[in-house]
Amino acid sequence: MQYHLYNEDCITGCKKHLKDNSVDLIITDPPYGIKGDTLHKHYHRNEDHVVKGYVEIPSEQYSTFSKQWIKQAERILKPGGSIYIVSGYTNLYHILSALHSTSLEEVNHIIWKYNFGVYTKNKFISSHYHILYWVKPGGKPTFNTYATYGAQEKDTSNGSLNYQDREDVWIINRDYKPGKQKNKNELPVALLQKMIQYSSKEGDLICDLFLGGFSTATVALGMKRNIIGFEISKNIFDHGMRKIQSIIPGFLLPQLRQPTTAPPSHQGAPWSEEELACLYQRYHDLYDELGSKAQTIYQLCEEFGRGRFAIMNALDRPTKK
Ligand SMILES: C[S@@+](CC[C@H](N)C(=O)[O-])C[C@H]1O[C@@H](n2cnc3c(N)ncnc32)[C@H](O)[C@@H]1O
Repeated sequence: MQYHLYNEDCITGCKKHLKDNSVDLIITDPPYGIKGDTLHKHYHRNEDHVVKGYVEIPSEQYSTFSKQWIKQAERILKPGGSIYIVSGYTNLYHILSALHSTSLEEVNHIIWKYNFGVYTKNKFISSHYHILYWVKPGGKPTFNTYATYGAQEKDTSNGSLNYQDREDVWIINRDYKPGKQKNKNELPVALLQKMIQYSSKEGDLICDLFLGGFSTATVALGMKRNIIGFEISKNIFDHGMRKIQSIIPGFLLPQLRQPTTAPPSHQGAPWSEEELACLYQRYHDLYDELGSKAQTIYQLCEEFGRGRFAIMNALDRPTKK
């Protein structure tokens, strides 16, 4: 596994070090443009363990700055490559506007709900970030639908775990590191693992334009992906480099959640007329026998080697049932 990490501004750094169409996945968390240096006052947090040197972007420059780095992101992504941008709500509109001025296409607007929201007395407590998941057109995006949960895996109430894991509201707590040195706004390992697991494969190249605490870099290497990235602050960069040198590539792989059922054997294959006729017949027979639609569909998934939604869509077709 390789890492190429630079103590440079990401816009000039991208131009210098990255060719067009060379990156599989970008995961990045730009400065929020809300006076990051005083963020601890909002959070009532002790800053003694926070690595000094965070570089903030003045709010009046946020729009131009966002357009410039997002233009670079568009250029370096391979066709079909994915980008996840973590953003607060204050400057979200600048990021969205910059994204809309590119050829990139929106896939999901994810809400990340976390613990330890900023305490407020006379209004609702803010406890979420936005994650903008977009792709570059012109290639097939990597989306590993069954990366974490198989199509047939259920919770105790018979709900699909795969469906739940792929909903666009993610409830993931921040990592709690009492007394340890950390970066401002360090992203949790579970959050990064999820994006990397769904949108890349081993050996891919991941880029983080704003390395901060090197959390994307650490998780990427831990999952056997290559990483390239930039951090403008010397102090934060030096701290991150000390951390990354002790990383053993692949160290996170043994603890990753793996699906316990194989992907459906006929996943994505077109239905023949005979197969559809058989499906309708089996649906009626099984429903008579089991008396439950959910159990019937579960059984049909097994018999026809297809996922739940494929079965439900086929049953909804306006044909002779
Ligand atoms: C929100 S933090 C990133 C946090 C990171 N995702 C983590 O989990 O630790 C943003 C980082 O971008 C850095 N930064 C600000 N302007 C930059 C620029 N033009 N190029 C590269 N890094 C920059 C800041 O110093 C800060 O460390």
